[in-house]
Amino acid sequence: MKEKTTIALSHPVFGIVSEAAKDLHVETYVVGGYVRDQLLNRDCKDIDFVCVGSGIDLAHKVAEKINPALTVNYFKNFGTAQFKWNDLDLEFVGARKESYQRDSRKPIVEDGTLEDDQNRRDFTINALAVSLNNDSFGELIDPFKGLEDLSNKIIRTPLNPDITFSDDPLRMMRAIRFATQLDFTILPETFEAIKRNKERIKIISQERITDELNKIILAKKPSAGFILLEESGLLEIIFPEFQKLKGVENYEGKGHKDNFYHTLQVLDNITKTTNDLWLRWAAVLHDIAKPPTKKFVPGEGWTFHGHEVLGSKWVPKIFGRMKLPMGTEMKFVRKMVYLHLRPIALTKEEISDSALRRLLFEAGDDIESLLMLCEADITSKNREKVRRYLMKFETVREKLKEVEEKDRIRNFQPPVTGELIMQTFGIGPSREIGIIKEGIKEAILEGKIRNDYDEAFKMMVELGEKLGLKKKQ
Ligand code: CTP
Repeated sequence: MKEKTTIALSHPVFGIVSEAAKDLHVETYVVGGYVRDQLLNRDCKDIDFVCVGSGIDLAHKVAEKINPALTVNYFKNFGTAQFKWNDLDLEFVGARKESYQRDSRKPIVEDGTLEDDQNRRDFTINALAVSLNNDSFGELIDPFKGLEDLSNKIIRTPLNPDITFSDDPLRMMRAIRFATQLDFTILPETFEAIKRNKERIKIISQERITDELNKIILAKKPSAGFILLEESGLLEIIFPEFQKLKGVENYEGKGHKDNFYHTLQVLDNITKTTNDLWLRWAAVLHDIAKPPTKKFVPGEGWTFHGHEVLGSKWVPKIFGRMKLPMGTEMKFVRKMVYLHLRPIALTKEEISDSALRRLLFEAGDDIESLLMLCEADITSKNREKVRRYLMKFETVREKLKEVEEKDRIRNFQPPVTGELIMQTFGIGPSREIGIIKEGIKEAILEGKIRNDYDEAFKMMVELGEKLGLKKKQ
């Protein structure tokens, strides 16, 4: 007989669910992500329970035992129920048999056995179940050798992959996301099926696709995911601008960097210094407009003039299409893309205080993020070159700090207000106010006057008089 594997379920919730299941006479199991993560020693706060019966009744019974005041959310149509207990998110569902029709994502759902339920899951490593039944508590039920795939680090569908992916095409993205997050390999047969079924991704909502893409970007080595997306043909469909970064052109024996691999290197670099999704998105998009700005200039080689300006204009378009948040997050990424060449440009010239002040003024509080992006952007096969650049970059960092301490430009507030200008010259709202304010700001950034009230006041009077205004006595 086959040896039985048991899993230690130490959390008190499992005993409680087991008791509730016994009271209701329903077979119950823990399934899916929780079992997988437990075996991989990954933290997981979402626990899915499957019972052969009503998931809604089971959820109510469990909640009653924990604390009758708990609120259970349930969806009669889907036969699912959910509630939170401390930091855990508990979900209950009756075992189901599902089949999908070709052109619809609406499944036909029928009650089923545990086996039916495991059959309809996405990957063998996600189809593991652990019994909560009295006579077999803790026993692993593994009909598709998920345990073996876990230890061999393999992503494989339990059924014919064409069926699994056709049932829910998002699973193609999920396969790549799990491979990236867990550092697993997608079985060649499974990967071939992704290539064959890639067009089906078009029936999936953008929100769900973007969710998976964000998870890939948040992984430790996102490049692995983007390479799989590209190889499978999905990238071209879900993110054509990124696909276009790929490839090298040669002219008169001169090639340029492959911007696809360069961008991935920048993204992998930045994952070492930040977990911030939006700074990682800035890395994804920093060179996105290189393809349409590419030009071969004799004597100069390949150029991409203005790619930062065009790229920043694309950011709202791409965010909108991807259903990413259009508020501060989008504006931050747009600003990063727009400014990404500036700190590097400073390493190439004699650094003037006014250039530093201008950069501080434009970047504001995001200056540190911008510097992180620029450091990640220094990629070259020549390690010595990278080291030299990083050293020069350190100088820029220090000088920025000195200038900021002296002139406080980062959160620039005009030292004289529009109100004061109106009072001083006895005028109402008018374009002169804008001209005077802009003149004062320019003078401060150029270092002609200091960022303080007295010097700014003097300059205001001079500028006003030049415009024909008279100071009130
Ligand atoms: N599942 C599936 N097909 C999907 C989504 C989910 O078969 N398209 C199944 C898998 O068995 C999965 C379980 O439902 O393990 C729970 O799904 P979900 O919570 O989305 O994923 P997890 O595997 O828990 O992983 P993560 O929390 O990282 O998304």
